[in-house]
Amino acid sequence: MAKLAKKVVLNPLANRLPASWWKKWLGNGNSELAQANWSNPGGWRSMVISYQGKPEKLWDRLLVNGGTIPMALRNRRKLAGGLIASLIDQADHEPVHLLCLGAGPGMITADALAMAKRRADATLVDISSDAFDFGRRHADEMGLRDRMTFIQGDVRDVALLIDQRVSIVKTIGIFEYITDEEIGGIAQALRRVMPAGSAIVFNSISLRHGTDRFFRQVFGLHMIHRSPRQLQELLAPAGFDKFDIFPEPLGVYHVVVGRMGSKGQGDCPRKP
Ligand SMILES: C[S@@+](CC[C@H](N)C(=O)[O-])C[C@H]1O[C@@H](n2cnc3c(N)ncnc32)[C@H](O)[C@@H]1O
Repeated sequence: MAKLAKKVVLNPLANRLPASWWKKWLGNGNSELAQANWSNPGGWRSMVISYQGKPEKLWDRLLVNGGTIPMALRNRRKLAGGLIASLIDQADHEPVHLLCLGAGPGMITADALAMAKRRADATLVDISSDAFDFGRRHADEMGLRDRMTFIQGDVRDVALLIDQRVSIVKTIGIFEYITDEEIGGIAQALRRVMPAGSAIVFNSISLRHGTDRFFRQVFGLHMIHRSPRQLQELLAPAGFDKFDIFPEPLGVYHVVVGRMGSKGQGDCPRKP
């Protein structure tokens, strides 16, 4: 019933009400989610607010606990964390090394490292280093501080940033913000650091959340909606194949696991 009400009443209303009204209400209500998106649309801070699910302000409680995208984000975190933990446990070597691109403070990575039985460590790359203080504190709290290394950098320079064999690459929460050409370029760069058989974990986003106009006009968030197949087609020329697709319960996000095929060249360190 609540799902139906959201689909036929609340989401269309959220989309149709003038953006200026929303901005005024959210601004007057000191919404942290709105402020986070206005200062950095789709940045790590809005992600953390959605993950934590216990905001103080009334508008945030409504948006974070009732909004389809925040709910789907929490589902995606759980799904991706679990999948990455199983990939770590399936590896035939130890420690398993993860490369996390557009990692923000690394909450999904921390979940996976904590959940896995096999020992793993991670290099986390993000263009904005302001996520790292939060990420380091979170890693400390989870007893993972010595296993998570944060590096400021552009995911498009990935080959220059890596100096060890990578077993799993995680690009959750980034492809929906970048162009086809950028995704293809990252895939080509990854070919040079990923050995055959190593895994990439990424996500697609569909329009099933029903609030695209609201997110564009009110939060300034311009997400690129692609199907898992469209993303696979962008990654395949670099040698990725054997894709497995996992939907989160709301069907907004699909988490996809792909494998580097025989084109992978990442058996030795890249840095001098
Ligand atoms: C939506 S957040 C996702 C954070 C995290 N991966 C998650 O799913 O919880 C996207 C992150 O990608 C980062 N980012 C965007 N463009 C980037 C680029 N070209 N290189 C590195 N990081 C980038 C942003 O700074 C932000 O922290």
